Amino acid sequence: MRKIILRGTASGFLLAGTVTVGLVANTAWAQSQNDSSVGFEWKDGTEVYAKVCGHCHETKVGPVIRGRHLPAAYVRTIVRDGLRAMPSFRSSEIDDTSLEKVAEYISKN
Ligand code: HEC
Repeated sequence: MRKIILRGTASGFLLAGTVTVGLVANTAWAQSQNDSSVGFEWKDGTEVYAKVCGHCHETKVGPVIRGRHLPAAYVRTIVRDGLRAMPSFRSSEIDDTSLEKVAEYISKN
C-alpha cells in the first residue's frame, strides 16, 4: 500500500482547509437531519385517515370509526396508547398537530 505523506506548509494548509470544510459540511448535515425528524407533518386529517387509519379501519381489520361521532379526545388517546389489537402510534409517526386534525376529522365525519 502506498503511504501519502503530506509535507510543507502548502499541503498542511490544504489539509487544514479540507478538515474545516468537512466539519462545516458535517454540522450542516446534522442540522438538516434534526430538522427533518421534527419537520414532517401530514397535510390534513383526511390524509392521515386515508394513509394510516384507513389501512385497517376501511378494510374491516379494525371497526368502523367514521360516522360514529367518536369524541376527538377518545380517538387521540387510543392512537397514542393503543387498544388491544389497535397499535399505538408515537409522535414520530403521527405528530401532535396531525393527530389533532385526524381526531377532529373522525369526530365529525
Ligand atoms: C394496524 C391496523 C390499525 C391501524 C393502522 C389503525 N387502527 Fe384503530 N383499531 C384497530 C383495531 C384492530 C381496533 C379494535 C381494537 C380492539 O378492540 O381490539 C382499533 C380500534 C380503534 C378505535 C376504537 C374504536 C371503538 O370502537 O371504540 C379507534 C378510535 C381507532 N382505532 C382509531 C384509529 C385511528 C385514528 C387510526 C389512524 C391514526 C387507527 N385507528 C389506525 C386497528 C388499526
